[in-house]
Amino acid sequence: MVEIRTENLRKTFGEVIATDEVNITIEEGELATLLGPSGCGKTTLLRLIAGFYIPDRGRIFFDDRDITTVPPHKRNTGMCFQNYALWPHMTVFDNVAYGLKLKRINNMRYTKAAVERRVNNTLNLVQMGDLGHRHIHQLSGGQQQRVALARALVIEPDVLLLDEPLSNLDAKLRIEMREEIIRIHKEMSITTVYVTHDQHEALSISDRVAVMDEGYVQQFDTPRQIYATPQTIFVADFIGQCTFIDGVIESVNDVITVQIPNNQTVEGQTTIDGYPFEVNEVVKAAIRPEDLHLKRESASDNEIVGKVTRTIYIGNALEVYFKVGEISAQALLEPDSEIKEGDDIHLFAPSDEVMILPVGGVDALRKVPGHPLALAEAPSSAASNV
Ligand SMILES: Nc1ncnc2c1ncn2[C@@H]1O[C@H](COP(=O)(O)OP(=O)(O)OP(=O)(O)O)[C@@H](O)[C@H]1O
Ligand SMILES: [Mg+2]
Repeated sequence: MVEIRTENLRKTFGEVIATDEVNITIEEGELATLLGPSGCGKTTLLRLIAGFYIPDRGRIFFDDRDITTVPPHKRNTGMCFQNYALWPHMTVFDNVAYGLKLKRINNMRYTKAAVERRVNNTLNLVQMGDLGHRHIHQLSGGQQQRVALARALVIEPDVLLLDEPLSNLDAKLRIEMREEIIRIHKEMSITTVYVTHDQHEALSISDRVAVMDEGYVQQFDTPRQIYATPQTIFVADFIGQCTFIDGVIESVNDVITVQIPNNQTVEGQTTIDGYPFEVNEVVKAAIRPEDLHLKRESASDNEIVGKVTRTIYIGNALEVYFKVGEISAQALLEPDSEIKEGDDIHLFAPSDEVMILPVGGVDALRKVPGHPLALAEAPSSAASNV
């Protein structure tokens, strides 16, 4: 098992900055996900860790070993590509055995018997023990996926890298294979980096999630922390639902008071430890739908007044969409709430559930002392390999 640490990584393709200022540490045996919209740099970061790309700047460590320029086959990583990249003319057994036959340990190859034993063990692990003799074109999508996984695992990698491994599967198989990956990860506890753009998949599978946008890791945290304490507006918006209200800070005390349109104010909290909010700073107040209630529970609750535009009954709750001035907002209420389109609605949000977020995205986080993005700017860690 190894720890993966990146230091101020950057990779560009011509003018395009595919990823930049990546400072993350993935712990031994951890399952970390790279999550973000198409083009945000997930595959690029994974390929940097695998060694298929050399960064323009920064370093990658496996434990204390600097592997930044070490070629892929010397990193002992198992990789599963999105399109599987299996050899259709070979059997399942030969596909899985291929990498093992090439692998040398202390310059010695595995014996035929050792290859056979390891391949069979790995095929059993992915529940393909009976199908070793089949050709790839005789397999279903889910079975091909298992072969690709077995091929990555058979070499007993220190690090497992999976790039959208489930994206070609139907919904039911995805869930089945997702649980399979969790099981195998638990069994082998290999440090694993898993790429997906599906937030549900990321939240259900990961110890920690790196939420990426435009090449930057905006937050690297447990699923719970990502949802409860988003560090940027992008993260709050990308993970779950949120209503954002533009505002300007009026005062900063135990609570942060923000002026919002129509001479109203809301009181909220910061989710960013150490961020130096200032009076008159432009911010957004972010509220999750489930944090808006029909009843006032405390004198300090914020009252939000709006006009209902649509309601959707979803069985266990009522989704209510409403306008606060020009802003589109949403609330998740009790299913039997008698609310209908056109109603004026008064909702209440406790001040400890209203999240006050700076508007500067990752740049704002540089103002937080000790933050990885603040460190990236320090000259001492801006090491260059090129
Ligand atoms: N070989 C390349 N040459 C030029 N630009 C590239 C290359 N690979 C990636 N890019 C660009 O770098 C950015 C990040 O790409 P990357 O493939 O890492 O995104 P991604 O998050 O994996 O997206 P997706 O979810 O669509 O797979 C994109 O703007 C992409 O167009
Ligand atoms: Mg990709």
